[in-house]
Amino acid sequence: MNENSLYNSPYNDNEYVWLLENIAKHFQLDLRGYKQHRVRRRIDMIMRKYSYNSYKDYFNDLKKDSKLWDEFLDKLTINVTEFFRNPEKWNYLKKEILPRILKESGSKTKIWSAGCSTGEEPYTHAILLEELNAPKTVKVLATDLDKFVIEKAKKGIYTERSLVNVSEDLKKKYFRKSDNNNYEILSFVKNRVIFKQHNLLMDPFESNVDLISCRNVVIYFDMEAKNNLYKNFVKSLRVGGVLFVGSTERIFNYKSLGLEVIEPFFYQKVKE
Ligand SMILES: C[S@@+](CC[C@H](N)C(=O)[O-])C[C@H]1O[C@@H](n2cnc3c(N)ncnc32)[C@H](O)[C@@H]1O
Repeated sequence: MNENSLYNSPYNDNEYVWLLENIAKHFQLDLRGYKQHRVRRRIDMIMRKYSYNSYKDYFNDLKKDSKLWDEFLDKLTINVTEFFRNPEKWNYLKKEILPRILKESGSKTKIWSAGCSTGEEPYTHAILLEELNAPKTVKVLATDLDKFVIEKAKKGIYTERSLVNVSEDLKKKYFRKSDNNNYEILSFVKNRVIFKQHNLLMDPFESNVDLISCRNVVIYFDMEAKNNLYKNFVKSLRVGGVLFVGSTERIFNYKSLGLEVIEPFFYQKVKE
């Protein structure tokens, strides 16, 4: 089934194509690699809220009103996340992957949390680095398209809900209670993480990375965007480096990309 047929928009189809082209040109945000029924439903929702009748009118206002643009970006991305999401996978990472990687790359180890949302994922990496006594120079690069989630991530303040998978012991070691019974991640853990705004579909990637986690991000991408992304991740990894994906995600063509499965949801780069 054509994915666009999953959603019937009340607005004009040609103008929708025009809108995406102009958003790419004007804002350097190319949404054409995303699943279109989802993107369009969300854009239409905002337009209805403000009673726009056409994509052209909406676009003209998007150019003028930065608040409207911020709302657009925020509504187009879903930021649900938590610490140690799928705990058994993080257990495996801690026991089997991180010790090897740290042994091989030492203080030069590079970890990248791609699509980090509000920071729970990169801080989980940072906690594991602390648990494994990794050198302080080992940092986690944490990137996301959405600048609001990055601002929130930098603050490092979380509700109890985000910490459901965090043991009491780890809570004591790496968090302090802040206002309203929230938890704030301690500064030595924060210092391990470097946050940056970055679009996985457009911006350049780092090289020689030891570990990339990209989890629950590609679900919004169409096949072509997903395949290109995986190719770029493989380029970005060093040989022996690992790509850690979400627990509903599989890379079917992993062999032709030069990857091996070392455990479900963990792919290792085996050749250049
Ligand atoms: C559901 S969250 C996943 C958070 C975390 N990785 C996890 O698994 O818990 C998806 C994140 O992907 C980000 N995202 C979506 N498209 C992106 C893109 N093109 N480049 C970078 N990040 C993107 C969203 O802003 C959102 O924060």
